[in-house]
Amino acid sequence: MKKIIILLLAILIFSCKQENKKVAVEQNLILASVKKEIVKESVIVDSAMVVSAKEEASKIGIQILKNGGNAFDAMVATELALAVSFPVAGNIAGGGFMIYRTIEGEIGALDYREKAPIHASRNMYLDEDGDFISNKSKVGALAVGVPGTIAGIFAVHKKLGSLPIEQIIAPVIALATNGYFLTEQQAKRITYFKASFLKTNNSESLYTKEYKTGDTIKNIALANTLKRISENGRAEFYQGETGKAIVDFLQSKNGIISMEDLNAYEAEWRAPIVFSYKDLRIISMSPPSSGGICLAQILKFIEPYPIKSYGHNSTKTIQILTEAERRAYADRSFYLGDPDFIDIPMDELISDEYLKGRMDNFSFDKATSSDSLSYGIIPGYESDETTHYSIVDKFGNAIAVTTTLNAAFGSKLYSNKLGFFFNNEMDDFSSKPGEPNMYGLIGGKANAIDPQKRMLSSMTPTLVEKDGAFWMTLGTPGGATIITSVLQTILNVYEFDMDMQQAVDAPRFHHQWFPDIIRFEPNSFPKDSLNYLKIKGYQVIENNSIILGKVDGIRILPNGKLEGGADRRGDDTAVGY
Ligand code: DON
Repeated sequence: MKKIIILLLAILIFSCKQENKKVAVEQNLILASVKKEIVKESVIVDSAMVVSAKEEASKIGIQILKNGGNAFDAMVATELALAVSFPVAGNIAGGGFMIYRTIEGEIGALDYREKAPIHASRNMYLDEDGDFISNKSKVGALAVGVPGTIAGIFAVHKKLGSLPIEQIIAPVIALATNGYFLTEQQAKRITYFKASFLKTNNSESLYTKEYKTGDTIKNIALANTLKRISENGRAEFYQGETGKAIVDFLQSKNGIISMEDLNAYEAEWRAPIVFSYKDLRIISMSPPSSGGICLAQILKFIEPYPIKSYGHNSTKTIQILTEAERRAYADRSFYLGDPDFIDIPMDELISDEYLKGRMDNFSFDKATSSDSLSYGIIPGYESDETTHYSIVDKFGNAIAVTTTLNAAFGSKLYSNKLGFFFNNEMDDFSSKPGEPNMYGLIGGKANAIDPQKRMLSSMTPTLVEKDGAFWMTLGTPGGATIITSVLQTILNVYEFDMDMQQAVDAPRFHHQWFPDIIRFEPNSFPKDSLNYLKIKGYQVIENNSIILGKVDGIRILPNGKLEGGADRRGDDTAVGY
């Protein structure tokens, strides 16, 4: 009997390890490995710029700006162009967040995050013994959250756009019809996922064909879907022929999304998280993303320390950032979730008084252990492959948008009729308290599944003002590492005097409370530094097991020109004029 139990345990541990390894490989394929040999120069232009994960999308965004559109028109076009030319993360059946700042200095945040279906339930991913069936929240129709992207772009267009929607969507329809260029990274990813597409869909599709670098992919089904959306507007997706086709398709795959879910979906305008770091004013995403609050906490934790004098990626800088990240992610897992469902003590979480106490037990002599540290106590509080693009137009409007299907190609479900992949955003919920999701993030009641609730995100589209004027727009994919990648990029420019391209390219590291390890980009940090940190009690890993963001951003230079940073880790491209 003892032998059988040991054998079963060994099988369980082995299968968990295999699962983690698979997830890690998948995550890396979203972003691809570090291309060390590439040293990019910042692109500098006079008037307007789009930086996105794919050249075709950046070019379409710029075309809209050149034709008299504003940053919001370009947002709609770039978002849809990414759905065509960067299907690993660009989407029309996913969701995202946008932060904006107009030339008049008005700021705002749009939440077009997916929602749990009406028929979702707290334990939908648990078996009869209460154990988490990890695959169920990640692959196939049950993993799909009610999509928000089309509601998002129409909300942006209605409130802030200037050109007719047909004019904005026309170049995207042309891109889907004429085809997009397949880069080496894309060809590799599609080849890698082919078996998974076949298994999930049980049928051949556009993305189960054999492809090689340089091929052109024409997606006529998506071109037709986009034509209908262009003609019939938002309702086409949530009430019309496309909506009905979505529901039929998902239900045929045992999904639970209904017309009622699509009809009920609304994108929400929210107040962004606004805070200061030294003389910067930072505007970032509010819940249901954890991005803004965590970024604010981390920057405020480190503000009293002279990190410029410690130096970029020095052990002291790594220690202070790690300890700040540890504490912020501990709060994230306890306090944060969908603000429409839970009370979040937002002001308290980023107040100086609360934050000061949280770092009291930090010392440069020894790592704090995550086991010894929990979320902070707030008196009176009762408990309980993503892609980013940045746009600045000639008028001075600026936006930061992060949008996702969650994993690479989301749930892997692909509708041949409609021409797109569906998200697997349901995995961002905490399916069981303490059970890690795809990004190793743990959570509790605040982020538990409830019908119609939005799952907690780490997406951190961010704008920064300096001396009262717009200074920078940035963001990144990378799951849990999004927040720390945005953080390090801002610090690279502001504290360590890098230009925008150097700042996005610089090697990064990440800590998220649990697991209690600092993850470093491989072969990018001196062995001496890693050894020193180990002596201080930090666990470090430096292998390919984690993605560390793919940051895209734009900064305004003192002479008024725009400087783009398009991460060397991907096919990202800055285009401007
Ligand atoms: O919302 C979130 O935090 C995740 N769904 C983001 C996923 C992501 O960044 C994947 N890309 N690498």
